[in-house]
Parts: sequence; C-alpha cells; structure tokens
Amino acid sequence: MAEPLVEIKDLHVEFEVRDGIIKGVDGFTLTINRGETLGVIGESGCGKSITAKAVMQMVPKPGKITDGEIIYYRRDKYNPQKPTRIVNITKLDPDGDEIRSIRGGEFAMIFQEPMSSLTPVYTTGTHIGEALSLHRLLPKTVGEHMAEQMMQYRPVTKQEAREISIEMLQKVGIPKPHERVDAYPHQLSGGQRQRVMIAIALSCQPFMLIADEPTTALDVSIEAQILDLMRELQESMEMSIMFITHNLGVVAEMAKEIVVMYMGKQVEKSDTVRVFYEPKHPYTRALLQSIPKVGKRSSERLASIKGMVPDPFHLPKGCVFHPRCPSFMPGKCDVLTPNWIEAEPDHWVRCLLYEGV
Ligand SMILES: Nc1ncnc2c1ncn2[C@@H]1O[C@H](COP(=O)(O)OP(=O)(O)OP(=O)(O)O)[C@@H](O)[C@H]1O
Ligand SMILES: [Mg+2]
Repeated sequence: MAEPLVEIKDLHVEFEVRDGIIKGVDGFTLTINRGETLGVIGESGCGKSITAKAVMQMVPKPGKITDGEIIYYRRDKYNPQKPTRIVNITKLDPDGDEIRSIRGGEFAMIFQEPMSSLTPVYTTGTHIGEALSLHRLLPKTVGEHMAEQMMQYRPVTKQEAREISIEMLQKVGIPKPHERVDAYPHQLSGGQRQRVMIAIALSCQPFMLIADEPTTALDVSIEAQILDLMRELQESMEMSIMFITHNLGVVAEMAKEIVVMYMGKQVEKSDTVRVFYEPKHPYTRALLQSIPKVGKRSSERLASIKGMVPDPFHLPKGCVFHPRCPSFMPGKCDVLTPNWIEAEPDHWVRCLLYEGV
C-alpha cells in the first residue's frame, strides 16, 4: 500500500517584482509516497524548481509561499517506534531548528546549479563530513542477536566521516577518490562538482531526495551509474525521489508516476506508462512530440510546442494553455477554467476535453 511521505496541497508561491506579481507556483497539488519515484516534467519556467525549493522551505527571495500546505509525515529516522508526526513545512521558520534538522538529513536536494551550493573554501571531504556530522548516526553496537528496537546510535567520528566521504565519492564515479576528498570545488570539473553534490545529498541517507536536473552535466555512462546508485539507495532505504528533468528518456526509466506541470499547476498525472503511451492533455502530447526519435534524420528539427509560454503579467483567461492548444474549443477553453479531474482511475488531468462541457 502506498504510504504518503509528503503531500503538497494547493501550493502558491508568488514573486513580487517591480512590474507586479509573478505566480511561480499557482495551485500545485501532489503526493509523494514513501519509497517511490515521481517524475516532474514541463517546459522551462513552469515552476518545477520553485516547487522543489518550497518543499525544502528554501524559496528564494523575493518569492513567498502565499497559500497552501506541504504536509510531511515525519518519522524518527533512528527510532522507528516513535509515532509519526505531522509537520506543515510551510509553517516552519526557514532558518529554524526544525527545518534545519529535516533539510540535509531527511530531505536532500540536488540543485540545478551545483556551484551555488558548494562553499569555495571547503574541500569535498569537509562538505560531506559536515553533512554526516549533522545528520547521520551509526549503530553503537551491532550484536548479532540484538533486537532492532534495542539499537542505539552514536555520532560519526572524523575518521569514519572521511572513510564514508571517500566511499561516496567512489560511488558517484569520482576518479581517485582518496585524493579528490581533499580537493576544493574550483579544482573539479562541472560534472565532478555535480557528482560531489549528489554524494553530499545521498551520504545522509535521506527519506526524500529531490533531484533537480541531477545528471544534466554528466556524460551518459556516469549518468547511468548515478541513476543506478539512486535506485540502489532507494531499495535499501525506502527513499522517495522527486525527479525533475527535461530528459524524458531518463524520467521514463526512473519514475513510477509522472506529473506534468504547466504555468505553476499540475495538468496531468498518472503512472509513467500511461503518461507516455496514453497522454490525455494536449500539452503532454505536445511535450512528448518534442522527444528526438531514433532513426530520425539529425537535420530535422525537433518539434517544439507551438507558441510561447504566456507573459506572467497577462495570463490568458480560461485554460492558460488555450492560445497554444491544438484542441482549442472557442467559447469554452477561453472562458472556463478547467478543474483537476480523475478522467479514468488513477489518471488525472486538467482539461475541458474531459469535463464533458
Ligand atoms: N528570483 C525570481 N524572481 C522572479 N520570478 C522568479 C524567480 N525565480 C523564479 N521565478 C518565476 O517562477 C517561475 C518558475 O520558475 P522555476 O525556476 O521553478 O522554473 P523551472 O520549471 O524549474 O524551469 P527550468 O526548467 O528552466 O529549470 C518562473 O517562470 C519565473 O517566472
Ligand atoms: Mg528549474
């Protein structure tokens, strides 16, 4: 049975800028279950990263969560006997103790911009070691017959932190990890920095990994290795993954379910196979047509979606996708706002074609 880890309910994030208010996330709803991978796809600017940052309670200024809830069913990582607590992330002080104990240890994020999250004066080993000392414990004594509830934990020692750092660097495919553990960010290539970020995120064995374009800067063999590592940790740890990407091939391989975003809202959600083979929303269909096909002549241009993403200050009336939609129904789509409906069991869509209007 699917058990929710995080429920995002009607999330709104707004940016107040000189010319007005930009709705970066505009009523986004989603459940992330324990141990499952959920893919998030959509064109640039549709709100994927801002949603992810909201879950971490790290919305960048001048952005603000203006409405909605992010409910986290919080378990004690080292004491599963303790009852699960219900935490509303949006209500936590972004600099407070509670979110800081969740961030890094229980929710980890691989950012789209790896450099911004590494401190230039710290070595890779220091970065990973710091995360470990804050968020990871090791079993005190491991007796063969010890019942699990008797397990006691202690902090990681400096020497162990170094050993785990080297092991993690090796797992993410950094060459000569014994040397690279002492390297500074500027001594690493872009792809290596991204792998260090991944090593930091995974070192504390989080309940949820938010991976925002995690493998964009990597070549395909390293990418495959990282994806395998994520899956391995997912199985051993029951880790959930929110996988944000423009690479539909990768998302098809990783995700059990896919949610499609447009202009800050979810417009379609179902299991991966159905989203790929029986997409319902005209926007999803258009997105899928933009995937390059094997065998297609390389001189042929990729299909891109007709028209442009609307100006955030002048959003279209009715369905925000209607000016670009091949199935546009005049007098309906430009007037009525589509609802989020279950068009068939476990297949959700926000489109008037399925509302019988
Ligand atoms: N610092 C900011 N100031 C003003 N508006 C912002 C800011 N950051 C994001 N936004 C707005 O929020 C929207 C969503 O941004 P977000 O970064 O979540 O997009 P995304 O889906 O991650 O895109 P990409 O695929 O390019 O990474 C943007 O279209 C933009 O209008
Ligand atoms: Mg982004």
